[in-house]
Amino acid sequence: MAKKRALITGISGQDGAYLAQFLLNKGYSVFGGERQNASGSLWRLKYLGIEKKIKVIPLELLEENNVNDVVRNGKFDEIYNLAAQSFVANSYASPIFTSNVNALGVTRLLEAIRHFSNKTKFYQASTSEMYGNSNIKKQSEKTSFHPISPYAVSKLYAHWMVNMYKDAYGLFCCSGILFNHESPLRGDEFVTKKIISNLAKIKYGNLTKMGLGNIYSKRDWGFSKDYVEAMWKMLQKKKPENYVISSGKTYTVKEFVNKAAKNFGFNLSWTGVGLKEKAIDLNTNKVIISIEKKYFRPTEVNSLFGDSTKAIKELKWLPRTNLDKLIRIMCEYEKSKYN
Ligand code: NAP
Ligand code: GDD
Repeated sequence: MAKKRALITGISGQDGAYLAQFLLNKGYSVFGGERQNASGSLWRLKYLGIEKKIKVIPLELLEENNVNDVVRNGKFDEIYNLAAQSFVANSYASPIFTSNVNALGVTRLLEAIRHFSNKTKFYQASTSEMYGNSNIKKQSEKTSFHPISPYAVSKLYAHWMVNMYKDAYGLFCCSGILFNHESPLRGDEFVTKKIISNLAKIKYGNLTKMGLGNIYSKRDWGFSKDYVEAMWKMLQKKKPENYVISSGKTYTVKEFVNKAAKNFGFNLSWTGVGLKEKAIDLNTNKVIISIEKKYFRPTEVNSLFGDSTKAIKELKWLPRTNLDKLIRIMCEYEKSKYN
């Protein structure tokens, strides 16, 4: 039987790398879309030892003709749209670019599928950020959306477009509403990676301290490698449906810092409030974390806490890696850079 053909947009990103690895193990031919002005690095694929197994093709979501050509010529069985301007903090400075890629980029893909490849199944990377500051304690597929950042608004547009193309044109398209997921391959700007890589620099390198923003926001953090499996499972269902994918546990950024610091042997003591709050390492009596205004966002999602009951039941999917284990994996990776 011919190998299934899958296109992953955003192949240079965290999820792109783990999903590519997962699909290769399932026997797929994997194509990766890389944008024209790409950061130029496929280091994540190299790290996983799969860069030679992926057929990388130019794919810029801002370019309608490029999107049309890729979808028309690719004859893909499945397309996973992971490409996005994915950093919430940056979306305030570039709301137009963010909307063009994250919202209209998805419409370009859906239109291309509708016109040139309407049997191709489509997965869209939706996000828990779309819930905003929900008054529902645990967010599920039934919880209403109140996006509060340009990023979240752009993603909700895409989410509803996917629903619309499914209903109006009968395309097999669906969205995974994924809560935060991390790994050693996470981008440096995201808080988990920032905390762990900076703690490693403080311990083994030349950094003396790091600044953070709102350490009281809560996130439901899981492991990217576990979450990409759910994306694939969604496209293997008979009918397309949306699913929440989360760990079902929530922690503050401060709790994350405390857990990560223990992995490096720091003995943290917190003092002060607001912008005066800081963490001292009692081993050295030095301040290693301070709070800095520049890291606060104009609007903040205070708490995310996911309910994946539907995915657990219908996809037989489970979050296998708890936060302590995830932090251990990420810390070991950063430590290995200094050995
Ligand atoms: P990521 O590491 O930031 O990767 C984003 C990818 O999109 C990169 O490959 C990037 O390319 C590419 N990209 C950006 N703009 C593009 C454009 N105009 N045309 C084509 N490609 C473009 O993100 P991730 O953590 O893997 O997340 C994957 C997807 O899931 C994203 O859509 C994100 O919004 C969504 N999501 C993530 C999480 C999470 O916690 N990780 C949770 C919910 C949803 P460059 O390398 O060139 O920048
Ligand atoms: N990045 C960052 N840097 N965040 C900080 C900092 C800091 O110095 N200090 C505190 N935070 C807080 C943020 O304000 C936010 O409340 C939380 O840490 C997590 O921030 P990020 O790691 O940047 O992730 P995010 O939750 O904004 O967005 C991620 O998850 C979404 C799913 O909920 C991204 O991966 C999005 O693409 C994804 O959709």
